[in-house]
Amino acid sequence: MKAVVYRGPRAVAVEERPDPTIQRPNDAIIRITTTNICGSDLHMYEGRTAVEEGKVLGHENMGIVEEVGPGVERIKVGDRVSVPFNIACGTCRNCTGGWTSFCLRTNPTEGMDGAAYGYANMGPYDGGQAEYLRVPYADFNLLELPAGTEHENDFTMLSDIFPTGYHGTELAGVLPGDSVAVFGGGPVGLMAAHSAFLRGASRVFVVDKEKDRLGLAERFGATAIDFSAGDPVEQILEQTQGIGVDKGVEAVGWQAHDPSGEEHPELVLDNLVKVVRSAGGIGVVGVYVPQDPGLDDPSSAGKIGWDYGTFFTKGQRMGTGQAPVKRYNRQLRDLIITGRATPGLIVSHEVGLAEAPDAYARFDAREDGWTKVLLHPAAA
Ligand SMILES: NC(=O)c1ccc[n+]([C@@H]2O[C@H](COP(=O)([O-])OP(=O)(O)OC[C@H]3O[C@@H](n4cnc5c(N)ncnc54)[C@H](O)[C@@H]3O)[C@@H](O)[C@H]2O)c1
Ligand SMILES: [Zn+2]
Ligand SMILES: [Zn+2]
Repeated sequence: MKAVVYRGPRAVAVEERPDPTIQRPNDAIIRITTTNICGSDLHMYEGRTAVEEGKVLGHENMGIVEEVGPGVERIKVGDRVSVPFNIACGTCRNCTGGWTSFCLRTNPTEGMDGAAYGYANMGPYDGGQAEYLRVPYADFNLLELPAGTEHENDFTMLSDIFPTGYHGTELAGVLPGDSVAVFGGGPVGLMAAHSAFLRGASRVFVVDKEKDRLGLAERFGATAIDFSAGDPVEQILEQTQGIGVDKGVEAVGWQAHDPSGEEHPELVLDNLVKVVRSAGGIGVVGVYVPQDPGLDDPSSAGKIGWDYGTFFTKGQRMGTGQAPVKRYNRQLRDLIITGRATPGLIVSHEVGLAEAPDAYARFDAREDGWTKVLLHPAAA
């Protein structure tokens, strides 16, 4: 089969790989119909993780079940399914508690709980930016979708970013009537804004500097805040009678930068502490890492000096971490089916696997109009 492979900083290649096979009785093989490039892939693409060369990328996958192992009972060949990016066993203490993003069984990496497809430090699993993908614990992990091809561009957001954006609002504790500030207008931030409205938020601000992304935020009903036009905290305070917002979502990560592009890993955390009212909640789904090989001192990446003192003084709450997709994906699927949720609005490009190297470069450059890229392996 053909697959998108990591070949070093800012280098991905489309290569021939052996088709995946059933290795354990509860595996399934999926023929990928749609697989997305994610902002998380860019951390690897930019050489900011320890991902090994030769890894097949891709953790946002959906498709048709091609083959199942002898232990698979619920999922059938021919089913149309969404594959959560988390690879979870379903029976460990964290999985049974609903925290599939911290499965205790599926990731052999020292010090890491939780596994994923095609991702640095998340276990030995190939990704789905390929024609086929092996899915462990298939009965537990796979989400069934209505047969056919309807809503493909909406359903493809169920493997990661729609549940992740929703998780940001859940960690923040968004309630009906709340005002919410989302930092980052990338795909995850836009899904957080959409989710905040689904939960009944009265007002949502989305902070970014990319005009196309701010335009999409407005299409979801949010108020756009351009941080290149002035301090985003001041801009939001001005529009909220100086009170700030009830809840905040971080959808940027440790590569947060100022308008000139210089990175400041504490910048967005500090902005959230300032703009969220006392006793308010903050959900951090943008990724922060203990190690970054792109820095002079890689282990300095996790030791971020941020304003914990004000955070404590304001009595705020903060939740963090990879999203447990299975907690939300069935409910979000049903909101898509009934037309209440339209996450596919953010799709900007649909291409074959052969065009993946070019698409990675353009999405990484945040070229105007490149908000979310879908790869369709069959179109290659
Ligand atoms: N927790 C999870 O489970 C999970 C899942 C998926 C993605 N993520 C992470 O979420 C983050 C966002 O993902 P994405 O796909 O939207 O990525 P993205 O890189 O496309 O979007 C990030 C956006 O943040 C903006 N930004 C940069 N500095 C900023 C600042 N100071 N203030 C406001 N905005 C700023 C950028 O302009 C960009 O539009 C990434 O760190 C990604 O790894 C986490
Ligand atoms: Zn992703
Ligand atoms: Zn588990």
